[in-house]
This record gives sequence, structure tokens and C-alpha cells, in this order.
Amino acid sequence: MRATSSALENGYRHLDTATVYGNEAEVGRAMADSGVPRGDVFLTTKCPPDWAGRELNTLQESLDLLPTDHVDLWLIHWPGAGSVNADMWQAFVGAREAGLVREIGVSNFDATLIDEITAATEVTPAVNQIEWSPLLFDASVVAEHRSRGIAVEGYSALRGGTLEHPAIVEIANRLGRTPAQVIIRWHLRHEVIVIPKSTRADRIRSNADVAGFTLSDTDMAALDGLASS
Ligand SMILES: NC(=O)c1ccc[n+]([C@@H]2O[C@H](COP(=O)([O-])OP(=O)(O)OC[C@H]3O[C@@H](n4cnc5c(N)ncnc54)[C@H](OP(=O)(O)O)[C@@H]3O)[C@@H](O)[C@H]2O)c1
Repeated sequence: MRATSSALENGYRHLDTATVYGNEAEVGRAMADSGVPRGDVFLTTKCPPDWAGRELNTLQESLDLLPTDHVDLWLIHWPGAGSVNADMWQAFVGAREAGLVREIGVSNFDATLIDEITAATEVTPAVNQIEWSPLLFDASVVAEHRSRGIAVEGYSALRGGTLEHPAIVEIANRLGRTPAQVIIRWHLRHEVIVIPKSTRADRIRSNADVAGFTLSDTDMAALDGLASS
């Protein structure tokens, strides 16, 4: 709860939680204590495929815990097997039509799975939340989402050795920035949504302080090339 409170105090307005994180009540308390109006916060939660068949109950539990009358984005947390995804997606479409969620999306899906649920419902996910960082960059993944009108939202941007990678550290040192700031700026230049997380107030502040610098085309190309180097 302290991390969410600190994030809200420091201007963050995008909160990402999930049924399986078990922290929706804490996120809700932090939102209430912050005094930030609900309408100023973009709130995401997620439903795991294990809960297929009782999606709307799961959503109602999330809404009760948070507590709120809607979330801004509801995601299928990861793909299930067989027809589970299409069935869940149909329930997600119903939740959006009922006004319980503003937008619906998926997480950890690939293009084939996305096309399956889209074909079954004629509704394309607004977002796919996937693991993403310079070390995982793949232009074709960005392109296949863009061509379908799906926003890419990256998670674990600061994990997997990104913060210690010599090329990222070199760019950060040269620009007088932290490696985390370089990675976050790189996402923004690619128009990929980024959701960095920290339990430390100093890092929460500095991770948000990325407006005052840019990455050159040369640095962007170097970062883009790390996945294949
Ligand atoms: N859809 C999915 O399947 C999925 C999976 C994983 C995560 N997520 C979502 O993505 C969000 C973020 O992902 P994440 O927690 O995996 O990773 P993250 O934000 O990439 O990294 C968090 C880690 O980086 C450290 N850190 C943060 N800022 C730092 C800085 N400036 N310098 C050095 N270290 C820093 C944090 O440590 P300190 O706390 O000590 O600062 C923490 O260990 C999560 O909150 C979750 O909502 C979604």
C-alpha cells in the first residue's frame, strides 16, 4: 500500500493490479487515502483464465475490493487453453457493454491467440500487456499490434538485467540519467505504455522524471539492437 500511496503522491495516475496479486484492497485504500479523484486515476485489473466461467463474479469481487463501480481496463491475465479465451473474451465484451469496465484487453497473448478471440467476437482487444524491454525488442511484435489497432503495454521493463546492461548504463551516464529513466524514455518514444514499479519513493520520483530529455535516433537504434546482439 505504501508504494501505491507514494506513487499517487508523486503524480502517478495509472495503477495496475490483478485478482491474483491479492492487493486490490490495498490499492483501493491507497486511492481513497490519497484524495486523488477516482476519475483522475486509470485503474487496471486482470482476471486469470482459471476463473473462466465466473468472470463477472470475479470482476464484481475486484470492484468491491477496490472499491469502485468500474475499472478503466480489464485484462485476461494470461491465455487459457482451448476455447477458454474466446469464451472469456465474450464475457469481457459483456462487462464492457454493462459499463463495469471502460476498456478490455489481454495480457501475455500472441497475435494468433488475439486473432482467435477477435474472430469469435468481432471485438479486438484494446491492449496487450506483455513483458517488454530493450532486451526483448522485436519490431515485428510492435507492428503486428499496430496493424490490429492494439496498444502494447510493457511490463517488467526494469527486470532481466536491463538496469545493469553496459550499453544502457553507457547511455544513461552520458546523458546524466539513470538506466531506468533511459528504459522508460525508450518505451515512450516507441509509444509503448510502460508501468514501472518501485517500493522506494526516490525511485518512484526519478522513474517519473523523464520529460526533460530525449534519446537520439542513434541511441534508439542501439537500444533496439540489444535484443539481437
Ligand atoms: N501481466 C503480467 O503477467 C505481469 C507480470 C509481471 C508484472 N506485471 C505488472 O507490471 C508491473 C511492473 O512490473 P515488475 O514489477 O515486474 O517490474 P519493473 O517495474 O520492471 O521492476 C521492478 C523492480 O525494479 C526495481 N526498480 C524500480 N525502479 C528502479 C530504479 N530506478 N533503479 C533501480 N531499481 C529499480 C524495483 O525495486 P525497488 O522496489 O527496490 O525499487 C523492483 O525490483 C507490476 O506492478 C505488475 O502490475 C504484469
